[in-house]
Amino acid sequence: MNLKKPLPPLDVAEQQRYIAQVHAENESCRIATGKSLYAFVQTFGCQQNEADSEKLAGLCEAMGYTVTQDVRVADLIVVNTCAIREHAEKKTLSIVGQYKHLKEQKPSLIIAVCGCMMAQEHRQNDVKFRYPYVDFVFGPSSLHRFPQLLCEKRRLGKRIYCPEEAEYTVVEDLPIRRESDYRAWVSVMYGCNNFCSYCIVPYVRGRERSREKEKIVAEVRELVQKGYKDITLLGQNVNSYGKDGGRAYDFADLLSELDAIEGDFVLRFMTSHPKDASRKLIDVMAASKHIAHQFHLPMQSGSDRILSSMNRHYDTEKYLGIIDYMRKRMPDVTITSDIIVGFPGETEEDFEDTIRMLERVRFDMLYSFIYSPRKGTPAAEWEQVPREETAVRFDRLLAVQKEIGKEKNDALVGTTLRVLCDGVSKGNDALYSGRTDGNKIAFFEGTPSDVGKFVFVTVERADAFALYGKKEN
Ligand code: SAH
Ligand code: SF4
Ligand code: F3S
Repeated sequence: MNLKKPLPPLDVAEQQRYIAQVHAENESCRIATGKSLYAFVQTFGCQQNEADSEKLAGLCEAMGYTVTQDVRVADLIVVNTCAIREHAEKKTLSIVGQYKHLKEQKPSLIIAVCGCMMAQEHRQNDVKFRYPYVDFVFGPSSLHRFPQLLCEKRRLGKRIYCPEEAEYTVVEDLPIRRESDYRAWVSVMYGCNNFCSYCIVPYVRGRERSREKEKIVAEVRELVQKGYKDITLLGQNVNSYGKDGGRAYDFADLLSELDAIEGDFVLRFMTSHPKDASRKLIDVMAASKHIAHQFHLPMQSGSDRILSSMNRHYDTEKYLGIIDYMRKRMPDVTITSDIIVGFPGETEEDFEDTIRMLERVRFDMLYSFIYSPRKGTPAAEWEQVPREETAVRFDRLLAVQKEIGKEKNDALVGTTLRVLCDGVSKGNDALYSGRTDGNKIAFFEGTPSDVGKFVFVTVERADAFALYGKKEN
């Protein structure tokens, strides 16, 4: 089946029938062979994709698969891809390439590739022609069709290329298998309307659509009741929540309502767009019980000329106004940002403007990216900055930020901060690690019983990326 035309809408009840069908088939296979079937879900990209993968894993479980972390035992592999930069796409394709030998060893293995890359026709074609052992592909708009596609693949035995949905919708009530039992993602809106000139997201994730407030409140309340301690509300442009569909409430109203839920938890959100970072939102944060004093506010560039050609709808003055107001209302706020280096047309002078802004704002941390042309976006057609220049600027940016980050973290030495413990540190197994309310990484000597709990850590030293301290009893 090569689905050229958009499929008719599929509701969750129909969905359940496909889930039940695969479940029944898997169950008879288990009885016949005495073995369970395993599913491996692999995720690239942002938190939105991680949240989607928890739904894919939930669907796998509902269909009778046991979710595994070991790809070698898998009977079903689902690769959830990201298209944000070329590097992410190349890495994913190379990993899909490595699965060829698994299919050779186990011809019954089913491989699905989904996510943002698969919403692009040229990437679907890459899979079609270069990875003939991939069984079916679908984009983010069709995530809820995963059981249907798996069913059809098994029934027909042919490869399936799912087209994008005719209309992007919000699909509620999909099963979900959360990775953690104390940190949770809650998507509150999907898609993006902003069309920043460098960015692929609006093309692969469709238009903005918000979930109903009641659904979100119910989900967060249930998470808190189950003991979740750290809940992050997600959206590509989370603070434009509610603007679609002419609702009478906005993101700040949603936050107020969630903040009123009783319990011991911290609430975060990402990613905010400066054009929608209102005073009302900052006031709600400042007055709240549960909302972390943490703000990720991508600036992208410190040059007004570049911000305008990026189509960002703010200038440095407006950006600084938000930062100053945030610091006035919440002096302890942690502020992080995203910066793109080497955007088409960026001159040395524009870059120096960015450095000046870093020195003025003094971010706690930066996520910096070298500009990567994305097919189909306007900026990909513009004259590019030579690689060598971009590389020099990128290193300079990292060096400047490293110093600022270290100074910001040094200022916390001697203070005692609440930290949600994640367990033994991956890089240093003598220490435990966790996240402060400001979302900074903290290392300390902990015990297994601290995992998933709030502890208090007095900071003894810091580097640009983390705090090191002593747990208080
Ligand atoms: N919706 C969020 C984040 C989008 S993607 C926002 O608006 O801020 C995360 C980050 O990736 C962006 O903030 C941007 O800094 C970076 N990014 C997006 N497209 C890029 C591209 N083509 N090249 C390099 N970095 C990019
Ligand atoms: Fe991309 Fe801009 Fe939308 Fe963020 S706001 S997802 S950077 S288009
Ligand atoms: Fe990547 Fe898609 Fe997220 S392109 S950054 S996974 S929205």
